Amino acid sequence: MSAENFLSKYSSVFDDNIVKFIPENNVAYSSVINAVNHSLSAGGKRIRPALLIEFCRIFGGDYSVSIPAACAIEMIHTYSLIHDDLPCMDNDDFRRGKPSCHIAFGEDIALLAGDGLQSLAFETMTKLDTDSDKIVKSVACLSKCCGIYGMVGGQVIDLESEDKQIPLETLVLLQQLKTGKLIEAAVKIGCILGGASDDETISCLKYAENIGLAFQIRDDILDVIGDEKLLGKPIGSDKEENKTTFLSFISIEEAENKICELTKAAKESLAFLGDKANDLCDLADYLAFRNN
Ligand code: IPE
Ligand code: IPE
Ligand code: MG
Ligand code: MG
Ligand code: MG
Repeated sequence: MSAENFLSKYSSVFDDNIVKFIPENNVAYSSVINAVNHSLSAGGKRIRPALLIEFCRIFGGDYSVSIPAACAIEMIHTYSLIHDDLPCMDNDDFRRGKPSCHIAFGEDIALLAGDGLQSLAFETMTKLDTDSDKIVKSVACLSKCCGIYGMVGGQVIDLESEDKQIPLETLVLLQQLKTGKLIEAAVKIGCILGGASDDETISCLKYAENIGLAFQIRDDILDVIGDEKLLGKPIGSDKEENKTTFLSFISIEEAENKICELTKAAKESLAFLGDKANDLCDLADYLAFRNN
């Protein structure tokens, strides 16, 4: 299956199921639900749910069991994007081909939509229908990866590094945290729900770490040379906010070579799965040269 078909298969699974977890909007606080729906239904590649479900399936889990977790991780990711676009953060007006949440609903409601999505994600995790031990491990993993030790920590370093020269090691850390950790969570929760062994999970996490860093380097490249229509978000945002990115250290060509190196290492770490990992290897290749 091509990577495009692989992603569109799991996007459909996501679209068919997310509605079950979103509160009805015929209530006095409907504006926050409308804002959540605006950002969640705007499209997006749905990479994190796809990874989570596929890793669960590969290790023999019934993939329908993983659906609440797949929806939850996309809720967390979407909340991170709503907050990331706010004027006090990256100040971007466009996201997923539509006005950013704060442009459509105001900063106050956008802030609350992000907050609401975060708690809705954990409420959704409690709807997992599997061994309580697996649910607790999955919730622990998600909370750790999206919070202070993970995505939030990375966003803090990102913001505090604006207008500064930071060492390459700090940039790699910020990228591993702000983007890498949620990708790692998707893979790890898939492994937990599918019943992978500790050794298998360690190898899968190497795949996650490598595609995660490659993913953010590609994001930095696209911020310079991307097509806004395809990307669905503004380009030039990093320069405007004076961010340090990979391109502050190396050329686009060198950055693309780095992405290829990371993608190769990612695929090697799944060699133990043989043909079962074909779609995940094709996905890694596709993401390396994605244009959206
Ligand atoms: C964008 O993530 C933000 C980063 C972590 C680089 P995606 O590129 O996965 O965004 P969507 O979900 O497809 O909109
Ligand atoms: C965002 O990184 C990572 C998040 C945690 C949302 P960026 O700020 O580079 O993401 P984009 O380019 O706005 O999508
Ligand atoms: Mg940002
Ligand atoms: Mg941003
Ligand atoms: Mg970016």
